[in-house]
Amino acid sequence: MNVYPSVMELVGNTPLVELRSLSPKPGVRIFAKLEGQNPTGSIKDRIVLRILREARKSGALEPGQRIVEASTGNTGVALALFGRMLGHPVDVCVPDSVYPEIEQLLQVYGARVHRVPRQAGIKTAREVALVVAREEGAYYLGQFDSPSNVRAHYETTGAEILADLDGAGPVDVLVAGMGPGGTISGVGRRLKEANPSCHVFGVEPRLGVHVQGLKSLDDGFIPPVLDESVLDGKIIVGNRHAFSHARRAMLEEGIFGGISSGAVLHAALRAASRIERGNIVAIFADGGWKYLGTDLWQSDDLDDAGIEAHEDPLDDILWW
Ligand SMILES: Cc1ncc(COP(=O)(O)O)c(C=O)c1O
Repeated sequence: MNVYPSVMELVGNTPLVELRSLSPKPGVRIFAKLEGQNPTGSIKDRIVLRILREARKSGALEPGQRIVEASTGNTGVALALFGRMLGHPVDVCVPDSVYPEIEQLLQVYGARVHRVPRQAGIKTAREVALVVAREEGAYYLGQFDSPSNVRAHYETTGAEILADLDGAGPVDVLVAGMGPGGTISGVGRRLKEANPSCHVFGVEPRLGVHVQGLKSLDDGFIPPVLDESVLDGKIIVGNRHAFSHARRAMLEEGIFGGISSGAVLHAALRAASRIERGNIVAIFADGGWKYLGTDLWQSDDLDDAGIEAHEDPLDDILWW
């Protein structure tokens, strides 16, 4: 019998798919880790479940206690489902730039939504979450602060990548988007332990540009969980490149990833253009479903050259 006791046991063990037609050179293999295959459709299922389980075990989170978090989307959605399944009322503080599909999901899963003005952004949403925690005795999940976030990726995402690539040679390059920074810090540390010459690149939107789930470190708030010591460089991406590469992944590899997956693919191809041989792993943090209401999937008929012309040439690798 191969039955799962609950949907929570489906978190993790996501597939690693080789992007055969997108790799620019025969000696360079690019592998995408498809985190959209998690139950609520994103990588955040891993960290939310880990933080909740550890907090219940330590007693920091009491049975039935209200939980609050700040999120641009995916963490809020994962918390709304898993918090509810573990018997907790859930509050999510979101910038009102949040995509309508995400807000709908939060409501479908029964979360109470607090909106902060768009320009106030995630930093203010986090401050509002801390006020709700203080004033209503709610447990603050703390994805920007909790070591459990990094530990979840070190122990699961990173370990799975090494196991899945066993026999295919070392991971030479890791490319992952940076929101709070848990993925790049945890997976980066694990892959560097396995191969000290693995290059780790964080993907970041240019300041003022909205790439769902990602955060510019130039906005003045460096998340406490982000371990910049694992980074060898960061790749700044605009949303045109993110959109066009999300479409390329879908049209050329049949992978329906989200906007940040497009940004990560663009960055992975940049990294691939700089090496002759090697294995590149790219973290596709969520699926494309949540963005069907956006113009992500409306082709703007701009090929790479056309996008290059539109994009700011700063859209490049910044080595550490
Ligand atoms: C779509 C998407 N991509 C990437 C990330 C970045 O993940 P991390 O929090 O591990 O930096 C997030 C985080 O919110 C996300 O939602």
